[in-house]
Amino acid sequence: MQQTTDESGTEPTTPLDSAVPQEPGSGRGRSHGTSSSEPFDRWFRYPAGFASDYASLLLGQLGLEPGSLIVDPFAGSAVTGTSARSLGHSFVGIEAHPAIAELATIKLQQPPGDPALLLETGRLLVEKVRADQTDHVTDDLPELVRRCFTAEVLSILIGLREGIVASGSPWTTYLKWGLLATLRDVASVRVGWPYQNPGMQRKPRHSDPFSRFVRRLEWMAEDIHNWDWADRQQSHAVVAGDSTRRSSWELIAPASAAGCVSSPPYLNNFDYADATRLELYFWGEVRTWAEMCSTVRAGMVTATTQQSSVAAARSAEAFLAQHGTVADEVADLATKLRDERKQRPRGKEYDRVVPEYFASMSQILANLSLALATNSCAVWLVGDSAPYGVYIDTPGIIGRLAREHGFGVKQDVKLRKRGQRWSGNAARHNLELSERLILLHRE
Ligand SMILES: C[S@@+](CC[C@H](N)C(=O)[O-])C[C@H]1O[C@@H](n2cnc3c(N)ncnc32)[C@H](O)[C@@H]1O
Repeated sequence: MQQTTDESGTEPTTPLDSAVPQEPGSGRGRSHGTSSSEPFDRWFRYPAGFASDYASLLLGQLGLEPGSLIVDPFAGSAVTGTSARSLGHSFVGIEAHPAIAELATIKLQQPPGDPALLLETGRLLVEKVRADQTDHVTDDLPELVRRCFTAEVLSILIGLREGIVASGSPWTTYLKWGLLATLRDVASVRVGWPYQNPGMQRKPRHSDPFSRFVRRLEWMAEDIHNWDWADRQQSHAVVAGDSTRRSSWELIAPASAAGCVSSPPYLNNFDYADATRLELYFWGEVRTWAEMCSTVRAGMVTATTQQSSVAAARSAEAFLAQHGTVADEVADLATKLRDERKQRPRGKEYDRVVPEYFASMSQILANLSLALATNSCAVWLVGDSAPYGVYIDTPGIIGRLAREHGFGVKQDVKLRKRGQRWSGNAARHNLELSERLILLHRE
């Protein structure tokens, strides 16, 4: 980010001293997920933190030189990446969920050829499966997959999956994501984000899996066709890895990045591996919950009680002990949460999650600090939380940790309320929660 001098010519200011742009109230993006109409981001709906039109506004606020490098340590489906690319910047993201890193990669990478071939391969496959009378439903399918669709729809989906795997096409990964994105469209149970609830029936949004699959491939082919891939001045990549580890940042030379727009998992929110269980089980990437924990979830920040462990919490506390007052603040929260847990017969281990979460945030901020050039900016969108009614000022604590890694906190602004989904629950605390933008200045 470029430094500017204010009118008086004395105090240096940064573009982020000006007001944070408001999220577009309406328009192309959803406020909380990937856009359903924006090129590339419409390929698969993922809980993204921000839509691409807002990511573009934030990037526009950073005062970047054309062709700057933007980084995102929680890249997800790469909304920041597609926005950075549209604005003429380079991008490197890091994403711990291997399947979502794969999706982000096909959105950003040079395609394997003319996208007309993607459509043609998809249409031929549809014809073949339509003509095929085989019942593809077998007993060894995970129960979640069996319960989400009617037998007829499931048989078609599996026929398409088998055809894609056998095709040997250079477009295989694109066909796979076209089909994975079709699953929730044609499910006959509640499969909204992030929860998949096979016990609740619903009318499928689209009744014909063939035409929906082809429609999705048409969007992909259209977006690839309309993008100017000949301009190779910038590069765009997503590393499948854990951003707490230094090795995941190897593509980014020290002090080479000019900005960061990111949204980490929120503390005590949902688990991104679990949220994509339907797609992972359907494709056979994992078959059991245990496999999910040991593979997909292994590199993720601990943000929920399902992910925590006694050993990891102990080492996180030891790690945080280097952080003076923040360590005391986190330890104090963990004590309050332990007291609350002990008052309940089957209390949840929030007291373990909290140190693990902030220790990971500290490691990621240390890595980000090395990657960013002096005087650049990082914008993070993150929510606070209140497990057992113990208020945790997550954005504030991240800001205080960031100071220990060479950042100044330029702004901390409330963007939207959160947690209203549970407001009817009388047993819940009545603290008001929100999502905030913290603007960090790499000094
Ligand atoms: C709020 S989402 C970000 C979504 C993103 N803005 C997008 O465009 O889709 C947070 C992401 O952080 C990822 N994540 C969690 N722990 C991580 C880690 N240690 N390293 C890298 N990514 C991680 C999750 O898998 C999830 O995709």
